[in-house]
Amino acid sequence: AEYDTLIVEHRGAVTLVTLNRPQALNALNGQILTDLLAAMAAYDADPGQRCAVITGSPKAFAAGADIKEMQAQGFAAMYGHDFFAGWDRFAATRKPVIAAVAGYALGGGCELAMMCDFILAADTAKFGQPEIKLGVTPGMGGSQRLTRAVGKAKAMEMCLTGRMIDAVEAERAGLVARIVPADDLVEEAVKTATVIAGMAPLAAIANKEMVLAAFETGLAAGVQFERRLFHGLFGTADQTEGMAAFVEKRPGVWTGS
Ligand code: HXC
Repeated sequence: AEYDTLIVEHRGAVTLVTLNRPQALNALNGQILTDLLAAMAAYDADPGQRCAVITGSPKAFAAGADIKEMQAQGFAAMYGHDFFAGWDRFAATRKPVIAAVAGYALGGGCELAMMCDFILAADTAKFGQPEIKLGVTPGMGGSQRLTRAVGKAKAMEMCLTGRMIDAVEAERAGLVARIVPADDLVEEAVKTATVIAGMAPLAAIANKEMVLAAFETGLAAGVQFERRLFHGLFGTADQTEGMAAFVEKRPGVWTGS
């Protein structure tokens, strides 16, 4: 499919999605949301695609929600349309999604990166929640996901001051999984995605679901959820295959069943 604001490429079983509104540093407007939801729905529906990477440009992953689109809105329109609720559908993508972040990931851009399953950061990445400088707050989940990722102290400082953190600080705080040189970012992300794409597909979804459950439930309920999903995988052909392959000292051949 062709999109106005995205470039979507298939690298084997990896869907590489590049945000493409360079004139606005990939500010997230309604069109990008519509395009991303369509691209993610196509990705989830395609059994040949097993991991996705979302990236931006070297200068900006995304510099926020589109301020010019929000500027003239009032409460009734924002509340009436439940503005930003569509992003919950992005976050509900079932298969794995990696954010590959170079340059600015600010406001909604930081929030989009945090909706992905993990973040690979270029050494040029900068993360921030500067909404307070606009007289508002995060609106795409940032106050919740940032706090869960980095803890109260750093999340509170970032939200209250709007200060940006660089890749090193973000890695130290647990916001990003790994830092790579900017020139290698996309290739490194595709390489990591290719590793994930080589895993048993149902096990990939189950691993994602249970790590996400750690965000949403208490310990006892989360551990119970994990155990039940783990038991459930013993009803799949890929569990039989994976364990037989280990014993027979050969790679597993997955069928996603
Ligand atoms: C709309 C944006 C934009 C944004 C940049 N642009 N960010 N347009 N929404 N969030 C546009 C600029 O207007 C400009 O277009 C072009 O992109 C290039 O940006 P410059 O500012 O000229 O680039 P530079 O000087 O390099 O500065 C980069 C920057 C700065 C530091 C990232 O653009 C910036 O501070 N952007 C806003 C960051 C921000 O506040 N994000 C949070 C948004 S609110 P023109 O055509 O004017 O030249 C949010 C949360 C929503 O995301 C929740 C609240 C409801």
